[in-house]
Amino acid sequence: SNGLPYQIAVIPGDGIGKEVMPEGLRVLRAAAARFGIALALREIEWASCDWYQVHGEMMPADWKAQLQGCDALLFGAVGWPATVPDHISLWGSLLKFRREFDQYINLRPARLFDGVPCPLVDRQGRPRQPGEIDMLIVRENTEGEYTNLGGVMFAGTEREFVIQESVYTRIGAERVLRYAFEQARQRRRRHLTVATKSNGIAISMPWWDALAAEVALDYPEVTVDRQHIDILTARFVLQPERFDVVVATNLFGDILSDLGPACTGTIGLAPSANLNPDRRFPSLFEPVHGSAPDIYGRNIANPIAMIWSAALLLDFLTRGEGAGRAAHDAILRAIEAVLREGPHTPDLGGDADTTRIGQAIAERVVAGC
Ligand code: NAI
Ligand code: MG
Repeated sequence: SNGLPYQIAVIPGDGIGKEVMPEGLRVLRAAAARFGIALALREIEWASCDWYQVHGEMMPADWKAQLQGCDALLFGAVGWPATVPDHISLWGSLLKFRREFDQYINLRPARLFDGVPCPLVDRQGRPRQPGEIDMLIVRENTEGEYTNLGGVMFAGTEREFVIQESVYTRIGAERVLRYAFEQARQRRRRHLTVATKSNGIAISMPWWDALAAEVALDYPEVTVDRQHIDILTARFVLQPERFDVVVATNLFGDILSDLGPACTGTIGLAPSANLNPDRRFPSLFEPVHGSAPDIYGRNIANPIAMIWSAALLLDFLTRGEGAGRAAHDAILRAIEAVLREGPHTPDLGGDADTTRIGQAIAERVVAGC
């Protein structure tokens, strides 16, 4: 960043987004200070249902111009269905960021931690152990099965039919495949699973498979296997230790990226990144969970998903190396220690509040243990 501070827009949003964000920032600031990363944080109150109540829209008309200079957005959660319908709050904010900032990679790590009960067991009926689940799901985030190309004709007649097209472009597919290979190359196991369904979807999926094979030629150090999505989902549950990096088109990736974190315990831990790796636009980092109206106001939400998302942000800022990578790793070690030794929020069986967890993680980041 040429010595200038990285520009970060901070968007707490709604509900527990407003409770976990201060802890995300606490840890972000602690890690940035320790590793000498200069950040300029700008808190934004729009992209929230509170703002909608006053202005009748989720964001100001010039939102894109206001955010354009940012390096990244740290996002809490959006949604308050009691006052604003979910399709309005989501399409009016988060989905605009993903589309208009061309955040074509959706990244979701899923790891089983020591101290977190795992819902999965192995063949002997033994609960899965830390280390047995450690995967990174890379989802295409802009095209594929999620288009608005199509329509209904002859509605209400015998001839009624509906068409919705899937679109895979060479640019769109190649860039997500390449990104996934790059990630796999940098991990210890260097393995990539390509999700497909070329036995059933007999035009586009063989094309996707062939493109994956073509890109694989540039990554001889990465081992690759191709799995049909149906057996792949079964193996997530039965043999999660098989997976390292998994790459998938939009729909398959959507499913896998909820299933993966679900296999590792609580939703309160799962982070995500919506990336524009070209860096033409800001990328967005957010917990997987929503605004949790059922627990909002008691300060009991688990802030770890938010804190881990902030770690992904730091890693992205310095391109997975240098100070940002060190800061990311320090935050992850602090999360691991707190999950192992406590304190814990109620979703993990403890009685600590949101603030206490943020403090405990920040203290460990500062102390370096
Ligand atoms: P949710 O993720 O907000 O909550 C699901 C369940 O998990 C609730 O019982 C909640 O208490 C619990 N939970 C979630 N995060 C937690 C945490 N950090 N610690 C402890 N427990 C946690 O999903 P839900 O209830 O379907 O949606 C609520 C609102 O959030 C809706 O308006 C929805 O549209 C929105 N939403 C927004 C997302 C986003 O901003 N990316 C993602 C998912 C939902
Ligand atoms: Mg989903």
